[in-house]
Amino acid sequence: MTTPAIPQSARNAMHGANKLTIGLFGANCSSGRAVTLVPERWSGDMQDCLELVDMADQGGIDFMLPIGRWKGYGGDTDYQGSTYETITWACGLLGASRRITVFGTVHAPLFNPIVAAKMMMTADHIGKGRFGLNIVCGWNEDEFDMFGVTQRDHERRYEYAQEWWDAVQLAWSDKQNADYAGSHINLKGVRAKPKPYGGSRPVMMNAGASTNGRNFAIRNCDAFFTRADRDSLDESKSRVAGVKQQARALGRELDVYTVGVVTCRPTKKEADDYYRHTVIENADWNAVDGILKKKNISIESVGEQEFWRHRKHYANGMGGYPLVGTPDQIADELADLSAAGLRGIAISFVNYLDELPYFLQEVIPRLQKKGLRT
Ligand SMILES: Cc1cc2nc3c(=O)[nH]c(=O)nc-3n(C[C@H](O)[C@H](O)[C@H](O)COP(=O)(O)O)c2cc1C
Repeated sequence: MTTPAIPQSARNAMHGANKLTIGLFGANCSSGRAVTLVPERWSGDMQDCLELVDMADQGGIDFMLPIGRWKGYGGDTDYQGSTYETITWACGLLGASRRITVFGTVHAPLFNPIVAAKMMMTADHIGKGRFGLNIVCGWNEDEFDMFGVTQRDHERRYEYAQEWWDAVQLAWSDKQNADYAGSHINLKGVRAKPKPYGGSRPVMMNAGASTNGRNFAIRNCDAFFTRADRDSLDESKSRVAGVKQQARALGRELDVYTVGVVTCRPTKKEADDYYRHTVIENADWNAVDGILKKKNISIESVGEQEFWRHRKHYANGMGGYPLVGTPDQIADELADLSAAGLRGIAISFVNYLDELPYFLQEVIPRLQKKGLRT
């Protein structure tokens, strides 16, 4: 099985010419990233995902990023209760598209590294080099209990992730029958063929929020996802610059991305009304409260003001950057994020299939005029 050699930089849409890269986040889960009761909320069904990847691929969207979610959050909708496993989901979407990068979001502690290396290589061949990996260590104890796996403390968690990623890369390397001896992972005679498409490895990202998580990204990743601060672009700018600088000190280039939740309508009033309707008046507050509980966010733990701020944020795309307004306003805000040094953004909608066409038709051309998209 041989494939033509391609360098990592040429293998997927995420490395394309767009100054601001745009992806879709969370479409593999029911309700996507909107914790809402509204009937048009995202189904997450495979047929809808396939229709969406086709629309996104043809519309020039750069990537699709799924969520590695194993158990719903309950509430009235069992928020994200219906989900596709992400590597197999990526296989389906890659087979149905031509250009777009499709990620798998892989919990390192739950997947044997050699099995994962083989699965991801297979996805990468289906997509001819368009598979991407989002490594997650997990944070939801409830999910780990379901697997009978004990979550490690923060430091150990990322130490394990490092060994896992080293083991995956060993399987993807040209070494034959190599042993791997770590503190957590011990493998004998590792041999795996074929290699990822074109002999280079898939693009790799991580979204750790802790110092250990960030340092993992700085050491290993091509892309790092972090929170953008709506109240202070300067704060976001210095956070992005800091991470990039730390990577450069290790001789690495790291692109920094963020997550956004889009409500785009012809008038500001229409956008505000729909936002209020979906994520305030019709939020699935029981699910939001379940999420807050899992994250140990309560009035006692963070204080009253912070608690209510978090509660609102989690209803709206689990804390993603809210982009609510007209096409002009959304394009301006995206341009501001780009000026803050962000390489891209993974966005979500209440219903991706209903709302993406307007975004493609109205926002993308405005970004092109600003020189942010080709
Ligand atoms: C863009 C993005 C995608 C993420 N995807 C997942 C996911 O699919 N599954 C998951 O359990 N955690 C996910 N997370 C959570 C992070 O991987 C990470 O666990 C969290 O930010 C806490 O950071 P820490 O691990 O450094 O404590 C995601 C976070 C972001 C910002």
